[in-house]
Amino acid sequence: MYRSKIAGIGMYVPEHVVTNNDLTKYMDTSDEWIQERTGIKERRYAHRTSETTTTMGVEAAKIAIERAGITPQDIDFIIFATLSPDYYFPGCGVLVQRAMKMKEIGALDVRNQCSGFVYALSVADQFIKTGMYKNILVIGSEKHSFGLDFSTRGRNVSVIFGDGAGAVVLQPAGEDSTSGILSTHLHSDGESAEILAMYNPGTHANHWTDQKLADFDEAEIAQMFFSHNMIDKAQVFPNMDGPAVFKKAVVKFPEVIMEALNKNGYQPSDIIVLIPHQANLRIAEFVQKKLGLKDEQVYNNIQKYGNTTAASIPIALCEAWQEEKIKEGDLVCLAAFGSGFTWASALLKW
Ligand code: ACO
Repeated sequence: MYRSKIAGIGMYVPEHVVTNNDLTKYMDTSDEWIQERTGIKERRYAHRTSETTTTMGVEAAKIAIERAGITPQDIDFIIFATLSPDYYFPGCGVLVQRAMKMKEIGALDVRNQCSGFVYALSVADQFIKTGMYKNILVIGSEKHSFGLDFSTRGRNVSVIFGDGAGAVVLQPAGEDSTSGILSTHLHSDGESAEILAMYNPGTHANHWTDQKLADFDEAEIAQMFFSHNMIDKAQVFPNMDGPAVFKKAVVKFPEVIMEALNKNGYQPSDIIVLIPHQANLRIAEFVQKKLGLKDEQVYNNIQKYGNTTAASIPIALCEAWQEEKIKEGDLVCLAAFGSGFTWASALLKW
């Protein structure tokens, strides 16, 4: 059984920088409030028409593939993590296959929001370990700027998110190699699924009782999938109970990091770089304190990009590596927590 390793990594963020002050044109907020609560100074927004979740993913993938020393035709499986796909269906994986003129390989989309990239990496890791695939492209990409409520009503959510993409190519590490993915750990608790969710469009019947639905015919019910009422009630935008998410995140992040360390006989002081999902700088600082990590052991770039959900970990990992904060043999921990709730970690020897 081969261990898998990251053979190439890439990232892409749109050129357009949106500062906190820029957001005050649309909603009642301030640079001071946003920085104090989230640490975010600015974020990037994709070009409205020419950039999509898929095109950004493709840009990140081109770099990862080149750095792995292979071509798109060598990729034998695609895993694409996003909550902001180009289409409700099909997923972005097949759009990458088309855009990059890849062979008729398998393409899988992962819908695990902020934990999406670590979940996708874990799935890829299993396929490499069993010998089924040799070059798996894993992408995390988001175009949040198209699906946020930019009125004051949506300010607690909208100021947090940004656009961007990250990608890695996973390959088998050599037979005697001590580097690569040591373990991955995946968890969920759906009890509070609606606390951080976008309700519509969806098939949950939008709080209608069976009795009420009985009064409508099929054509009218079809309208309920997407209606003016949903738009009026802002149910087509992400909904978040921020304090509840914060409380759960600061427990589950350290827990899943310790799970990975314990599994492999390490302790927090052994981590060279922790890449937490860039949810909120305050959450990352809380986790750092709880685990007794030094500043240089934790990499954060939410200040520049905001929260890019499934893209945040590969973007941060890529930047940390480009800045030479990660070198060969270093112990790197990836950890995520988000909507679902789902949370996950991966421990790697670079
Ligand atoms: N600008 C100005 N005021 C705002 C804004 C804003 N953008 N957003 C909310 N407020 C106001 C609220 O209306 C409220 O006003 P009130 O007291 O007059 O009613 C006040 O600020 C406090 O609102 P809270 O929602 O209680 O704000 P809180 O201090 O909890 O901060 C935050 C909100 C930053 C979201 C916080 O709850 C948090 O960090 N939560 C963690 C969740 C998180 O990070 N989510 C990221 C995405 S999910 C993920 O990646 C895991």
